[in-house]
Amino acid sequence: MLDDIAEVLLSKEKLAGKVAELGAKISEDYKGKNLLLVGILKGSVVFMSDLMKEITIPTRIDFMSVSSYGADVKTSGVVKIVKDLDIPLQGYDVLIVEDILDSGLTLHYIIELLKSRNPQSVKICTLLDKPYSRRVDVNTDYHGFDIPDKFVVGYGLDYAEKYRNLPFVGVLKPRVYEK
Ligand code: IMP
Ligand code: MG
Repeated sequence: MLDDIAEVLLSKEKLAGKVAELGAKISEDYKGKNLLLVGILKGSVVFMSDLMKEITIPTRIDFMSVSSYGADVKTSGVVKIVKDLDIPLQGYDVLIVEDILDSGLTLHYIIELLKSRNPQSVKICTLLDKPYSRRVDVNTDYHGFDIPDKFVVGYGLDYAEKYRNLPFVGVLKPRVYEK
């Protein structure tokens, strides 16, 4: 598996430091609120599980799974809900937890959908951001790292469902997806 990685972009230690920072900030900002973390499956699971342990105020969690129609490499913007939330959102301060923000199409869709369910508030926390590939404007309220426009895997992120279990974020060798 390690043979397929060109370089380590974010080490385990660097990720842990940033996640702790985000958790502390969220704990401060959501004091007295009714926090619900909504993880987008499957990419967010590693980030979500580390992040929630750094949150020191009461919180609930839920998950949602979406897939985009059309091309497999780039998002089409048309999103299908594969697994919806279990919890009705009324009264909650929803914080969407996402692995990476690329074109923004997926998150744009999800945010509008969740807003229509009348929560108290909806904000976004994304670990990674590729700011130069944005196709729609999406405001991130919390974000970990800006990264270059390269295909990355690990710490929950996959290529063809592989590499999610790598403890770091690394750049995938192009030969892996070009062959
Ligand atoms: P967007 O709709 O283009 O913002 O797509 C975001 C989704 O695309 C993420 O949730 C990831 O599943 C996937 N994605 C985008 N860039 C990468 C990458 O570099 N590695 C792995 N998955 C990615
Ligand atoms: Mg994915």
